[in-house]
Amino acid sequence: MARLTRRDFLKASALGMGAVAISTGLAGCVLDSDDKRRVDFTHGVASGDPLQDSVILWTRAVPERGSKVKVGWEIATDAEFASVVRSGTAETTEAHDFTIKVDAQGLMPGQRYYYRFRSSGATSPVGAATTLPEGSVEQVRLAVVSCSNYPAGYFHVYREVAKQADLDAVVHLGDYIYEYSSDPDSYASEEAQALGRTFPENNNRELLTLVDYRRRYAIYREDPDLQLAHQRLPFIVVWDDHEVANDTWRNGAENHDDSEGDFEQRKLAALQAFFEWMPIRPVIEGNDEAIYRSFRFGDLVDLHMLDTRVIGRDQQLDYLNYLSEAGLNVDQFTADVTDPNRTLLGAEQRLWLQNKLATSTGRWQVLGQQVLMGRMDLPAELLLAIATETFDDLPVTLQELATLKGMQLQGMPLTEEQEARISTAAPYNLDAWDGYQAEREVVLGMARQLDKNLVVLAGDTHNAWANNLKDMNGNQVGVEFATASVSSPGLEDYLGLPDALIADAEQGIGLLVDGLDYLNINQRGYMVVTFTQDEALANWYFVDTVKSREYTVDNSRSAARKTLPGAGNRTVDPV
Ligand SMILES: [Fe+2]
Repeated sequence: MARLTRRDFLKASALGMGAVAISTGLAGCVLDSDDKRRVDFTHGVASGDPLQDSVILWTRAVPERGSKVKVGWEIATDAEFASVVRSGTAETTEAHDFTIKVDAQGLMPGQRYYYRFRSSGATSPVGAATTLPEGSVEQVRLAVVSCSNYPAGYFHVYREVAKQADLDAVVHLGDYIYEYSSDPDSYASEEAQALGRTFPENNNRELLTLVDYRRRYAIYREDPDLQLAHQRLPFIVVWDDHEVANDTWRNGAENHDDSEGDFEQRKLAALQAFFEWMPIRPVIEGNDEAIYRSFRFGDLVDLHMLDTRVIGRDQQLDYLNYLSEAGLNVDQFTADVTDPNRTLLGAEQRLWLQNKLATSTGRWQVLGQQVLMGRMDLPAELLLAIATETFDDLPVTLQELATLKGMQLQGMPLTEEQEARISTAAPYNLDAWDGYQAEREVVLGMARQLDKNLVVLAGDTHNAWANNLKDMNGNQVGVEFATASVSSPGLEDYLGLPDALIADAEQGIGLLVDGLDYLNINQRGYMVVTFTQDEALANWYFVDTVKSREYTVDNSRSAARKTLPGAGNRTVDPV
């Protein structure tokens, strides 16, 4: 991968000469702090938010006694630390849960670096990170992950990501932790006991306080597969809802009620723990609520990471509020779901995104965000079956509807009643962009007007998808590539679908949803998106199980879709 041309290198060397000379002078003399207490690096190392000249380095240093600790850090161009380019000391206290974040600066673009921390003779594992490339860039490769539920299964997916060569970064789209207990009746925890993935007593409850959230991160970060991924690769992270509580919005969450205390306090505790434990650079120093930010990969990719949860989101609509004995109040629902004042991003973030899209010149404009942007309208009778959990007839209903849709697509005549069965459709998930339709039009409108090559990345659903993003007038604007979960159960679980019906269900849903080009509804995995000047290629990889320590990569289900730059870039099967 050509990250840096010779000319770039010379230019950067000349600019960085002073910094390199100074930091070489510092190397070695400050690495060991004069603190003589024993210190444990209890949770490995992590890096994140790489820029052309800096990267966040993270560790946790717990002293055997006392509430304050000082550690040395160093970053080098070789794993043996013969060429240290920067070093320094950092302090942490109990008030930060003994987590440490260093913004290592004065680095070279597109360069592989190695880093470690040391204190009182204890040395952390050596981590690796790559700075973002500058100038003319041939290729950018991003792994995309989301939704790692600890009690639901093993984190094999993180291990597989760690094995991938040539990745520039791991983009984590949230649900890094879940707020539930690991009791058998808790979400996705039925097998936690058998898997040996229950939470210890002092954390086995729904998270509410700062201590609760911190302990949960600590448990996750003891997982060897997650630790390995952090150690080998820089992460670029955003939260989704479960870092706070299920279906979080600006002022509340589905999984929060007054008996659990003040939501604002809970949210701030959750976000503080997130900022302490994640290798993320504060967007505004001292503010744990702002995470939307951009990353520029030379002239090839601008990655805009969004917050569709906390900063601006209006409360989700709920079909139940539109249901009466007379049926669904379609007019009121339609008016609300398309209300131009309804927001997912908030006015400030939307304006920021508009500016970013207008001024960014990368070949690809990429949105790294949580929830599906593609329109996922399903026939009403299917939605009703899902809502009322009458799954027994679901495969038959799905097959019937898919057959009718297939006939319609082939131009075969349908009766009025058949026509109505497939055309009476509504959004499946009101927690996604489908519940905020006017703002989706605004975002798609921006990309179209500015003539950008738009690629949207999404997590949240636990399933893999490729969508063609069209505006309300049917104009093709861009594509969406969505990743499966690391371990959280997907639609197969939600719909109670046995293995034998998965292929039919995928085919049926694929037919019924306009714009949907690919889906996998029953496997855990990750996505790698490879950008070049000529194409953006998404590869989905899946593991065969997260329910046993032994697993294999299920190559039979690997899939790929790509898109080409140009007006209305759409998905193409690369085969
Ligand atoms: Fe999730």
